Amino acid sequence: MITKPKGTYDILPSESREWAKLEETIRKICRLYNYKEIRTPIFESFDVFHRNQNDTSDMVTKETYDFQDRSERKITLRPEGTAGVARAFIENKLYVENPVNKLFYMGQMFRYERPQKGRNRQFNQFGVEALGSDSPLIDAEVIALGAALIRALGLKDVKVKINSLGDEESRNAYREVLVKHFSQYKENLCPDCLNRLEKNPLRILDCKVCRHQEFFKTAPKINEYLNTESKKRFETVLESLDNMGLEYEIDDNLVRGLDYYTHTVFELEVNVPEFGAQNVIGAGGRYDKLIEDLGGPKTPGVGMAFGLERLLLATELAGKKLVADDNIHAYFIALGENARKEALKQINFCRLGGLACEMDYNAGGLKSQFKKADKNNAIFTLILGDNELENRVINIKDNRTDEQETINIDDIYPYILKKLGTKNSCSGCNKEKE
Ligand code: HAM
Repeated sequence: MITKPKGTYDILPSESREWAKLEETIRKICRLYNYKEIRTPIFESFDVFHRNQNDTSDMVTKETYDFQDRSERKITLRPEGTAGVARAFIENKLYVENPVNKLFYMGQMFRYERPQKGRNRQFNQFGVEALGSDSPLIDAEVIALGAALIRALGLKDVKVKINSLGDEESRNAYREVLVKHFSQYKENLCPDCLNRLEKNPLRILDCKVCRHQEFFKTAPKINEYLNTESKKRFETVLESLDNMGLEYEIDDNLVRGLDYYTHTVFELEVNVPEFGAQNVIGAGGRYDKLIEDLGGPKTPGVGMAFGLERLLLATELAGKKLVADDNIHAYFIALGENARKEALKQINFCRLGGLACEMDYNAGGLKSQFKKADKNNAIFTLILGDNELENRVINIKDNRTDEQETINIDDIYPYILKKLGTKNSCSGCNKEKE
């Protein structure tokens, strides 16, 4: 048997409606915050993600799926959305038409990570990127959008952790003291951190291996090295979050796993024990240099991405159901070949009128067809045998009341509509109740 690659999974019909509902919720929120959808390729040129020799992030150095295509072009499966969106922004000159572009995307990302609960090699992200404004208010807007999604999904125990990495001047000052500090403990640093010490010492703070050592706790904190402007900027972000009534916690060890961040960085963490180690459901920050690094015009940016798998896991653990049980309007039980042909004709008519219908194509017996009607959560069960067909009538049972009637075969559609009233209670079609 051929099986799925390690770190991937199938979304089966029993789960796909939850996915669709999550995506629908996300789209509604993006509409409210006025973010427009962008769809970029799943694979990009290798250079989109491997921009800089000094990038020490695990994602770029260890986790990308890189390959050469048949014409020996170097290709990378996207490990995240931001860099691809930035590439598309530059290539399509989106900045010409709009000074500020507020974009969102959803789709598969690929990282060669060790799979575990909430961590896959192919996973889905929803992300937003606001390009073209350096206002601290838009950092707060992005976080507010994330909080709105959490609220819409009914999630509890989600903590927003936030920090500022400051501007270049602040980071340079901080980098210097960090190098001094960690250089004293070189023999205790893991090989990755030894490399980071030279290339990007801030990232040591993010190391899962070294994090628990004593010398971590005594490391200098970034907030002591933010220059006046960076400090003021961070305060405005926090003030804006306060004004919107959003709660957060300042975490001065938060530096984030990707190398492109400047100023604001944040993570949204779910704190329920069953969630496991991968409890960061969404994260993001400001990246004022990325567009330039990719060869575009000087353009500030800020964004965030959620892992959809983790969002669904969080909704499940919160005991929230995104969708009601699947049900259909009508299940047609047809007994005999001619009755089945007539049923198909009637079903199609009803379906075109917006009713979700089903029948048994495998010619099961009466009992087994009743079972199937049950399994489909049909609101109405219709029974058509040869006798009824001859008299152009059909038996119809309202499963909500167990009331049964015999009606004219050509009246099925208006009959069901009338019984349903104006509100169609089917959750399986576009007339779904909210
Ligand atoms: P990230 O923190 O690498 O940031 O990923 C964002 C979210 O994607 C994580 O919080 C997590 O929920 C989900 N995620 C990441 N890796 C996996 C995985 N292997 N399996 C399942 N879920 C995963 C970014 O990707 C940035 N591009 C976010 C951003 C947008 N920053 C600015 N704009």
